[in-house]
This record gives sequence, C-alpha cells and structure tokens, in this order.
Amino acid sequence: MAKYSKIISCGSYLPEKVINNSDLPAILETSDEWIRARTGITQRHIAADGELTSDLAAKAAKIALEKAGLAAVDLIIVATTTPDTTFPATAVSVQKKLGMHSGFAFDIQAVCSGFVYAMNMADIYIKSGQAKTALVIGAETITRILDWADRGTCVLFGDGAGAVILGESDEPGILSAKLHSDGQFQQELYVDGGVSINQQAGLLRMNGKEVFRHAVEKMGNVVLEALEDADYGIEDVKWLIPHQANQRIMDAIAKRFKIDSDKVLSAVAKHANTSAASIPLAICEHEAKLKSGDLVALTALGAGFTWGSIILKW
Ligand code: COA
Repeated sequence: MAKYSKIISCGSYLPEKVINNSDLPAILETSDEWIRARTGITQRHIAADGELTSDLAAKAAKIALEKAGLAAVDLIIVATTTPDTTFPATAVSVQKKLGMHSGFAFDIQAVCSGFVYAMNMADIYIKSGQAKTALVIGAETITRILDWADRGTCVLFGDGAGAVILGESDEPGILSAKLHSDGQFQQELYVDGGVSINQQAGLLRMNGKEVFRHAVEKMGNVVLEALEDADYGIEDVKWLIPHQANQRIMDAIAKRFKIDSDKVLSAVAKHANTSAASIPLAICEHEAKLKSGDLVALTALGAGFTWGSIILKW
C-alpha cells in the first residue's frame, strides 16, 4: 500500500467573462474603492449562459491530466456547492466529459471547505490502496446563487474551477489533515432555499461580520492543529494557502502567525471568492513558486461552519 499521496499536477479554468468592480455601481450602490478596501477584490469571472459547473471542472481537469501525462484516474471527487443538478453528481458528468468509463466519482458538499475535505478523502482512498490516482476538483458557478441586489454579498464571489491530481508515492506528500464542523453556525451563512425546503436552489445569505471573525480564528487554529499532527510548527511552513474569501482575512492570519505576507499565497484580487474552487485556483496561480519539498499548509472555512487544514510536502 502507498505510504503517501502526493500532488502530481494541477490545472485551472476561469470563465471568459470578467466583471470589474467599476462595472458594479451601474447595478448597485457600491464603489471600486469600498470593495478593494474591505476585501482586496478587483474583479471576478462569471460563467456564460449554459456553461455548467461540470464544464468548468472538466476544463480544469483536462489541463491537470495533460500535465500529468494521464488519460484516466481511479477516482474523481468534485467539491462543489453549485452542482449542475441535484443528482446525479457533477463528478459523473465530469467523468463523462473526460471520456472516462472506469473508476468511481462522487461530489462532496462542505461549501468553501470542500476542497480540503475532498483532498483528505482522496488521500485516505489512496493510502488504503482503493485508488492509485485521484482527480480532486473544486468547481463553482456560485454567482448563480447570488442576490444581485444585496451589496453585502454579491460583490464578493466569482466562478471558476481548479483541479489537482493526487498519486501514490513513497516520498512525503500529504502529511496530515484536520477537519471540523459545527452546525450551530448554520444561520451565519446559508442559502434560503433547497430541494427539501421549497424545491428552489435559494440565494446566498450571510452575516459578514460573524463569518469574518470565525474565519480568522478557525482557519488559524486548525492550521496549528494539523501542523502539530505532522510534527511541524508554523515557522516551518513555506507557503500558507488559505481559502480565498477576503484579503483582510488572509492578512489577519499572517499577522496572528507573525509570518511574512509573501508566504500567504493570494489570488482573491482577480478571482474573488470562488468557494470550493479557491484553493486549487490559488495553487495553480502560484505553481511556479512551489518547489519540491516545500512545506505547504492549506486551510479553509465554509458555511456550516465547516473548516479544515491539510499539511503537505510539495
Ligand atoms: N459597497 C458599499 N458599501 C457596502 C457594501 C458594498 N458592496 N457592502 C456593505 N456596505 C456597507 C454596509 O451597508 C454598511 O453601511 P452602514 O454603515 O451605512 O450600515 C457598511 O458598508 C459597513 O458594512 P459592514 O458589513 O459592517 O462591513 P464590513 O467591514 O464587515 O465588511 C464584508 C463586509 C462582507 C466585506 C466583511 O464582513 C467580510 O468580508 N466578511 C466575511 C465574508 C466572507 O469571507 N464570506 C465567505 C466565507 S466562506
């Protein structure tokens, strides 16, 4: 059985259409200055009409597969909170779009923590010997569940997909993972609809201040927990890759850890918050900086709340 799972390659896809902050005052009372100052966001990508989460995911996956020199994988996990349909899973649509007929594929729903949850799951499958290779994708068309009249939320999000391929390895890859959830915080961030509630997808609702506070505290704490399990300290981390929700959240974590903000990899300015896609998109954006053997910490918090961290060697 494999000792480790390790990232072999990554790929990303962002829809063509871009909405700049300066486009938004035409539809709502806001300004480029406000959005930049409070979030660090300057633009977001928006999926085209008819462009599905599985389309974004398949495009990112194709790039990762090509880079790895693979035609197929044993396992596909899609982390998404905006699936194409209620069922079947978006992951099987991706499997079809990639022309794969073997292996197994499923979705995971942990909202903005979805990619961290999915990486942990893929690692377990690989270490158990049930899969040798896994495609782990975060993909969202989250702008479709935004209330474009709510300036407190709609300016924050964007669409996109990022994918990594994990393969079995004798060399250290994923070293530790720590996941948490606490459903008592559901009302802080949720959609006001659902199949069981009203047969609607619903729109995103958020108590921004509370989410901000919990994100800084919980994303930081869980990194320390995962590092402890891997027998490392924060001083050993070469790159911290947090969920890309808000530059101020990332800056607050860097300040708390007294680490140079250059070590905290950010892509939020151009991507905005792409929910489950944000970490793999940030990985791809900064891929050239990541060198073999670098200690990397991923951390995320999402609705639920769910939160978690992965410590890995690049
Ligand atoms: N443009 C202009 N003004 C806006 C605005 C916008 N897009 N959104 C809100 N405002 C206004 C508010 O109405 C409020 O006005 P008031 O003082 O007249 O009532 C003022 O700006 C301050 O709003 P507030 O909500 O207190 O701002 P904030 O500093 O908390 O920043 C967020 C708001 C949403 C940027 C911030 O709370 C945040 O980033 N939270 C975390 C969000 C997140 O990361 N979610 C996803 C996690 S997975």
